[in-house]
Amino acid sequence: MQFAGSHILSISQFERADVERLFAVADAMRPYAHRERITRVLDGAILGSMFFEPSTRTRISFGSAFNLLGGEVRETTGFEHSAIAKGESLYDTARVLSGYSDIIVMRHPQDESVAEFAAASRVPVINGGDGANEHPSQALLDLYTIRYELAARARDLDGLRIAMVGDLRFGRTVHSLSKLLSLFRGLRVSLVSPEALSMPEEVVETLRAAGHQVLQTDELETGIADVDIVYSTRIQEERFASREEADLYRGRFRLNQSVYTANCEPNTVIMHPLPRDSREGARELDTDLNDNPNLAIFRQSDNGVLVRMALFALILDVVDQVKGHAAPVNWYTERRF
Ligand code: CP
Repeated sequence: MQFAGSHILSISQFERADVERLFAVADAMRPYAHRERITRVLDGAILGSMFFEPSTRTRISFGSAFNLLGGEVRETTGFEHSAIAKGESLYDTARVLSGYSDIIVMRHPQDESVAEFAAASRVPVINGGDGANEHPSQALLDLYTIRYELAARARDLDGLRIAMVGDLRFGRTVHSLSKLLSLFRGLRVSLVSPEALSMPEEVVETLRAAGHQVLQTDELETGIADVDIVYSTRIQEERFASREEADLYRGRFRLNQSVYTANCEPNTVIMHPLPRDSREGARELDTDLNDNPNLAIFRQSDNGVLVRMALFALILDVVDQVKGHAAPVNWYTERRF
């Protein structure tokens, strides 16, 4: 694909070579994300950040990624703070905001809404999550994390064994990740969910058409045995008709240390796009796993900055200029990386 000037709306836009290119750029962003150097390559550029659903990681890491490249961020969060609350259409909003920004990231509760917005935008738009449809940048950072975790265990992406657990029907991250995994070879994918929350058939077909082995089960213990990665997900309460309906499934696939020890291979990596639901009765990923070295969830969220920096650098076509705008860091940077 041509990154420069492109919208990023679906993971289906990517070929394997595009993913490799993106990951190479993400690797090159590490010194800047880790505050070993700064770069001002996007000095003067403006990111329009529009989040019409709650977000911590996607909104802040996209904003941080843009700031780390030297650009500025203007944002609106929630319909109530936007003229959409006065009846303005997505078309008009896109026409207006693309006059104020060089690139836009948007999250919206309706499937395909970001594509509709992008069609009217005069600048590139990145899908930060559209309803239960897709979350392409999350899938890219997930795969980037998987690659690193596997490399630390002397394993390759081809032949990966992965279990996706929880709300696979409404969880947009697993839809995008499955499509992305279909670019690789010889995978075994365990889909662990109640039947009512199973992976959409179209996504399962994409995996099967790529030659991957797909197992579907509603038993956690069976699904997480013999895998390299357990990718847990939250019950997407906001997509259910009522909280009571979501409660029927909450806590059903709870992974904690004793379940992990009893069923998983010793080095199985534990991932989750976050947020995990830490309320009593939920806890799909228990806090007693926090000291387990195979828990990769915070390495995963850190990687969001690298991958989103790489997306900006490629879409705004500044990859070759990053080093030329670099400088030393002036402040105390003894930190957590
Ligand atoms: N993973 C993810 O999309 O998190 P946020 O909802 O906090 O952005």
